[in-house]
Amino acid sequence: MAELLASGRSIDFVLAMIALEAIVLIVLWRKRLCPLRPSSTLLILAPGTCLLLASRAVLSGASWTAVSWLFLVALFIHLVDLRQRWRRESGRLDTASADRSGMTIPALPARLLYKAASTHAFTERGLYLNLGYWPKARTIDEACEAMVELVGQTAGLTSEDEVVDVGFGFAEQDIYWIRRFSPRRIIGVNITPEQVRVARERVRELGLEARIDLREGSATATGLPDACCDVVTAVECAFHFDTRELFFAEAARLLRPGGRLVLADSIPIRVESDPWRHPLRTFLHALVRAALAVPLANVYPREVYAQKLAAAGFESVRVDSIRDQVFPGWRRAVVEDAGLRRRLGPVGWLLRAMPETPMDEGFDYVLAVAYRPRG
Ligand SMILES: C[S@@+](CC[C@H](N)C(=O)[O-])C[C@H]1O[C@@H](n2cnc3c(N)ncnc32)[C@H](O)[C@@H]1O
Repeated sequence: MAELLASGRSIDFVLAMIALEAIVLIVLWRKRLCPLRPSSTLLILAPGTCLLLASRAVLSGASWTAVSWLFLVALFIHLVDLRQRWRRESGRLDTASADRSGMTIPALPARLLYKAASTHAFTERGLYLNLGYWPKARTIDEACEAMVELVGQTAGLTSEDEVVDVGFGFAEQDIYWIRRFSPRRIIGVNITPEQVRVARERVRELGLEARIDLREGSATATGLPDACCDVVTAVECAFHFDTRELFFAEAARLLRPGGRLVLADSIPIRVESDPWRHPLRTFLHALVRAALAVPLANVYPREVYAQKLAAAGFESVRVDSIRDQVFPGWRRAVVEDAGLRRRLGPVGWLLRAMPETPMDEGFDYVLAVAYRPRG
């Protein structure tokens, strides 16, 4: 045994095993059975391999410079690995601290929320269900349309594009984009069957079925093929998804190389609220989150949002706050527009009674854009 160890053949055997392990993990990754990317596998295995090679070099009487180089390479790769893990774990830490401060009231399922509101829309003319983008808008109708225009412009929609639009409400936005930017085709995916039915009828009446294909389903598992579109859009809905992070992965799968993901999305910002010092505020915040069908896993600030997009494989990620162009205008409309309050039902009167809602205080509203790498 001592002879075997001294000869270095045992080290050769272990090195062969490590090479085999690397090959197996990379093959499993290619078949989507292993979550570790080849780069992560190499970062895990390379430092140990270098140390074994250094031992092998010592046993075979190699020069001290060769041995030192192997030690240095092992140290360098280990530090790169450590840095990556540090970044990943600090992202998790942010999320975990958000979880710690939020009360764990389970979120109402989005499907139930929209079943209750299935025939209601915020706007007077169209059937929009977003808070609106208000810099130039005077009415909720103009503001909702401006929000959809903003997303279309940010996505740079052209007549060449095939679009997947998730959480489309009553497809008012898809009808708008087809008329305004004339994309080749839009496939819509929405989880609320009643909305899909109403939206399909509207699209049929307008003779747009060939260009707007509306389906019932979840944004996190659309069932659409890989690389089937150039643009993925989500207007004021990703905060509902279980989870938003799973949707990022799904969007990355659906997009062709160079494709764009654009979201108008509401995110909680006051995650540091201390439940012991501000029990009522924390409770109200948690209640609003749960009633708005926002899973706790989607509670994290803008910086973590951007990190999660990058972790899903997107590049040139931008997550800009547009809360000042959204919330004040919406609040003004709720106070001044009796028609909007009527359409909102009891929620409208509740919002008017407490205009400084936990939503204004505790939520951000972002416009996010990210690109699938060209490969
Ligand atoms: C606030 S509404 C926004 C509707 C529309 N984008 C608009 O601006 O008028 C949110 C939409 O997200 C949809 N939704 C919620 N969870 C979903 C999911 N997991 N997958 C697909 N759609 C979802 C709801 O059915 C609803 O249509």
